[in-house]
Amino acid sequence: MPVITASPITPLERAAHWLAEKPVGSVPNTLPALMKLFALSTPDTMRTIKRANVLRSAAWRSDATARQAGRSHAVGVSLRLQEEAHMQSDQELFAKGLAAYQKVVSLNYMAHKEVYGILRQVLLTEAPDQFVFLDVACGTATASAEALKGTNVGRYIGLDISQPSLDVARKALSDLRCPVDLRCQDFVEAFDAWDEPVDVVWIGQSLHHLRYPSEKQALMQRVQAVLPRTGLFLIWEPTCLEGEDREGWFERFGRLRPEWSMVTDEEFAAFDSHCGASDYAETSATWMAMGREAGFKRVDELLTVPNQLARVYRYSH
Ligand SMILES: C[S@@+](CC[C@H](N)C(=O)[O-])C[C@H]1O[C@@H](n2cnc3c(N)ncnc32)[C@H](O)[C@@H]1O
Repeated sequence: MPVITASPITPLERAAHWLAEKPVGSVPNTLPALMKLFALSTPDTMRTIKRANVLRSAAWRSDATARQAGRSHAVGVSLRLQEEAHMQSDQELFAKGLAAYQKVVSLNYMAHKEVYGILRQVLLTEAPDQFVFLDVACGTATASAEALKGTNVGRYIGLDISQPSLDVARKALSDLRCPVDLRCQDFVEAFDAWDEPVDVVWIGQSLHHLRYPSEKQALMQRVQAVLPRTGLFLIWEPTCLEGEDREGWFERFGRLRPEWSMVTDEEFAAFDSHCGASDYAETSATWMAMGREAGFKRVDELLTVPNQLARVYRYSH
């Protein structure tokens, strides 16, 4: 008698389920473990990432609660595997993802120099004296620290959900001649309860983690409410071309591979996966309209980065 097994699951499918269950923001850090745990080649890793993204999307579609919450974990993917017990420590994984990001920053592949150069210009010419600078999702804050040097900053507040990034940020910001306050916190939660004075709010590559325009706009509304009349809100975010959808943006990102020649396949796969799992770019028109709807009177596009994938926007009263 042949033995009939119920719903056999392929190794790639197991890997995709495993990846789809990871918190969205942690995906780049998870890639090394994924490849090691399931012994995946680079092409299989790419296939797994794509399949995991499909699973995540299906989970989002089928789970109304997740749709409302709109961010954080990919819920609804039911398979829980035991392999996690054998994984490398979280710290080890995070260190790899963080190192890859820092490498990309130092190679200027994302155009940190141009972007933070514009931020610096705005701070020097438009920010009030002794301004309070709120760096939302600051990460390691290396580029912010450079941009703020020699400005009239009176206080720096950095928010990020990653404590290891904040540990690096503390050192990067040590030359600033103002109080530095670093908080390990989800930025949406932080804004829900924000009651402190702040003059400049900067979000570098993070508002797009919120999936729906309504969530992005709600966050902008909170920022608008906490900023004084002289306040400034600046963002640097992935931007679709007019008529392009998220998939099109993602394809354009994938075509960067030859240009990012100094990163390994594993590092590029980590970025690719992160974009697929947690980046929700909008068109320039939408980024600007959301700001107006949120109550900002003046909305300007300040910069398109050389690879055309992201832009800087400024919003004020
Ligand atoms: C692409 S990095 C950007 C870092 C830095 N702002 C820059 O311009 O290079 C995104 C950062 O957002 C943080 N992040 C993601 N989701 C977050 C959330 N909900 N609340 C706070 N930080 C978040 C990550 O930990 C990471 O440091």
